[in-house]
Amino acid sequence: MLPQEFLYQLKQANPIDQVMGSYVRLVRAGSLLKCQCPFHSEKTPSCVVYANTQDPHFYCFGCHAGGDVITFLMKIEGLNYIDAVQMLAERAGMQMPQQEFDNGEAKRRTRLLELNRAAARYFFEQLTGNDKRGLVYLKERQLRPEIIRKYGLGYAPDQWSGLADAMRKLGYSDKELIDANLCSVSNKTGKLFDRFRNRVMFPIFDLRGSVIAFGGRTIEKDGEPKYLNSSDTPVFKKGRNLFSMNFAKKTQSKRLILAEGYMDVIAIHQGGFENVVASLGTALTPDQCRLMRQYAEEVVISYDSDAAGQNATLKAVNLLRAAGLRPRILHMHDAKDPDEYIKKFGPGRFRMLLEEADDAVSYELQRCRDGTDPASEDGTITALHKAVSVLADIENELDRNVYLSKTAKEYDISQEVLKEQVEREIKKRRAGQKKHNWQAITSASLLRDPVNPDAASHRREANAEEIILCYLFRNPDALEQIRSEIAPEEFVTDLNRRIYADFAEKLMQGYPFSLSLFNDSFTPDEMGHITGISSKNADIAVSEQSVRDCIAVLKKHSLTEPAPETLSDEDFSARIARLRQQKQSN
Ligand code: UTP
Ligand code: MN
Repeated sequence: MLPQEFLYQLKQANPIDQVMGSYVRLVRAGSLLKCQCPFHSEKTPSCVVYANTQDPHFYCFGCHAGGDVITFLMKIEGLNYIDAVQMLAERAGMQMPQQEFDNGEAKRRTRLLELNRAAARYFFEQLTGNDKRGLVYLKERQLRPEIIRKYGLGYAPDQWSGLADAMRKLGYSDKELIDANLCSVSNKTGKLFDRFRNRVMFPIFDLRGSVIAFGGRTIEKDGEPKYLNSSDTPVFKKGRNLFSMNFAKKTQSKRLILAEGYMDVIAIHQGGFENVVASLGTALTPDQCRLMRQYAEEVVISYDSDAAGQNATLKAVNLLRAAGLRPRILHMHDAKDPDEYIKKFGPGRFRMLLEEADDAVSYELQRCRDGTDPASEDGTITALHKAVSVLADIENELDRNVYLSKTAKEYDISQEVLKEQVEREIKKRRAGQKKHNWQAITSASLLRDPVNPDAASHRREANAEEIILCYLFRNPDALEQIRSEIAPEEFVTDLNRRIYADFAEKLMQGYPFSLSLFNDSFTPDEMGHITGISSKNADIAVSEQSVRDCIAVLKKHSLTEPAPETLSDEDFSARIARLRQQKQSN
């Protein structure tokens, strides 16, 4: 455990609303703050931030994420406990307490980040080494020296161990080079070799400016693969990062430009649009969309103009919408990608494209005609059916009517008829949706709770345990009384048992109740469960009597259901038979 006083000061210096406010937009709702939950996609905010309470915390009533400011950072940045605390300490300019805690993992991560930075420096220096082919390549691609420096671009020369030798000299081990995915071991010779060779190098920075990974482009005409990327490492998860987000977020623009490749991003940035990002060698992910949503409201997709790019565009539209972003689509003619476009026509024309970018609906309506013959009736009907579906997707009625009349004109049909079709489609969907909602509700109660799987078969007991815990959180002084009536071993579900045991131990060591007590022994998901125990019951007064009733529920369970490991073989098979029978009669 870190000293309580330190944790208290740390949380004072990092108010949860300030920290969360730098990731999500908080809105006031009465005395509370709310936001769209960054941990699941939703349209109406169901994540509540309790900033002005004694124990500031957040809780999402949708996905049950929750915890204090440290849990929030662990979840959103994917950090472990110590790293999250360290980040908050840095943010507040506080010293970490000198203490022996297990920081093996933190140390290892720090080493990897330092190694990545050293490697980036090495690659950058190679641009101006003996072999200037990297620099020549970047110049041919019309990158200016200041942009090369800003992005920290570099060159991995055509050598098997140029990087490895340089990094060994700096004291990095072969294992660290492999862990960072900078080197591999040859199957044949068993020797270590550099993964990136004969490539110009693109370092990937996280939001704090640490180098977390690399992409490398071959400088040979038909070199394979064209781009080589770092695989996931302890410090890099490619689906969770965006190339150039570190620069884009600084513009504070509510609009981001989303491109396909490294070179596109850099060309667009160099053209004066610094609010540009790209996904990293993969299709766009929901995590990446959520990351964008933390900073922006609108995303202009400017993917390649080829078929692959256009298909990716449609997918991106849906993902962006699901994350609550407004997608727009940029159309390029006479160039295959933004890099080529800017070179050919200049940034001024690119700005015009940005301004003219279609909203996603117009784009989707146009795409309805793809693959159909506009001259034939069949083709028109197929396209119209698709258009009805697109129109039915538009939630706002005013918006919908605007597109409706546009589409009617375009296909030269009566607006009333089209409207009727669209409304019928909407009704059909609502009916389907209702059914779906009911299914979700009825199956949710049967679904296993992944955080506390035991609860599925022991609903009643799990509820009883949570009420007892809730009471204890509010009345820590009742611990001795309750502890004398029920022991942790008598709790039925594993997670609640661990919470009870851990809490009891910490209370007895004299710690006051605070969610922070749990961060170092429970995962962020489990923290959500713990926070939920108090938040879900916030409006309910838990009386001593109900606690007694709950204890009785657990006692009864332990009487009727001895733990399997204490049963004799005979009793055990009898029990299995009984359960099977019960299941059949159900
Ligand atoms: P493109 O093939 O469109 O390349 O791949 P590009 O960005 O236009 O590159 P240049 O202009 O020829 O240099 C788009 C993106 O897809 C990923 C990279 O992130 C690239 O920027 N990619 C592509 C790979 O990860 N590996 C590959 O082999 C090719
Ligand atoms: Mn290109």
